[in-house]
Amino acid sequence: MKIVKSIKKIQQSLEKERLKGKSIGFVPTMGALHQGHLSLIRRARKDNKLVVVSIFVNPAQFGPKEDFKKYPRSLKKDALLCKKCGVDFIFYPDAKAMYPKGYKTYVSVEALSDCLCGKSRPGHFKGVATVVAKLFNIIGPCTAYFGQKDAQQAVIIKKMAEDLNMSLKIKVLPTVRETDGLALSSRNVYLNKEERKDAAVLYRALNLARDLIGRGQKNSRKIITAISRMVNYKKTAKIDYVYIVDLENLIPVKVVKGRVLVALAVKFGRTRLIDNVIIESVKLKTQSAKLKLKV
Ligand code: PAF
Repeated sequence: MKIVKSIKKIQQSLEKERLKGKSIGFVPTMGALHQGHLSLIRRARKDNKLVVVSIFVNPAQFGPKEDFKKYPRSLKKDALLCKKCGVDFIFYPDAKAMYPKGYKTYVSVEALSDCLCGKSRPGHFKGVATVVAKLFNIIGPCTAYFGQKDAQQAVIIKKMAEDLNMSLKIKVLPTVRETDGLALSSRNVYLNKEERKDAAVLYRALNLARDLIGRGQKNSRKIITAISRMVNYKKTAKIDYVYIVDLENLIPVKVVKGRVLVALAVKFGRTRLIDNVIIESVKLKTQSAKLKLKV
């Protein structure tokens, strides 16, 4: 496994590999790798001849009052994990190389970037789309892998790739969770004991939505109220948003029909966590009907 800092060098190395006909699987990350990232890396390893992981804490996607400075950085540990998972290259650029003096070009995926997390994190998805577009150009992957936990990010990146005619596949893999349901996130390390315990409510709340929809509840407002009540019950929790939206445009739906995304963002103390589930209302209804019949 090679760790490469220089943009030119990684481009040259990967060009050689491409000429040998090797397919490149790419996992962009900000480091502080956990099992969620590793599930993406393992899948990339399975699907491709060559695996590249980027580690870059992208300043462009953090707001001025956000956690850019304290975001966990652990290159040594990350490199060990990557090596164990059979990664071929870690691309580890610095901010000066990615955004040199006089840098001017940004990618903005309109409408999709202003809702949900975009509302409380203005500019965040412009930063994400820009860095991901740059990384795609530098690495030139056949397939790039993202986690479903960042559902809005995945929708935005897919749209960007489609709109800009990028010739790669985007694969979105399921969220990896702790045993109590908390979605793995590099930010979980910020939580104190009480906040960590309370944070398990996120997945319970999403499961409540699943249950309600499964039992035939279609009124989004009622589902959102029930979820919010459950989350608000936790002392350290402060809701940023709870939305039920369609999967393509991320527009709130009043009536749950077909596939919807139930997404929430909640602050536990000073740590903002997000989570989501995709729920297919029709399927769940028939499933619960079958269950009733069995009983
Ligand atoms: O999901 C992340 O870790 C980041 O947003 C990404 C996609 C690596 C871009 O910086």
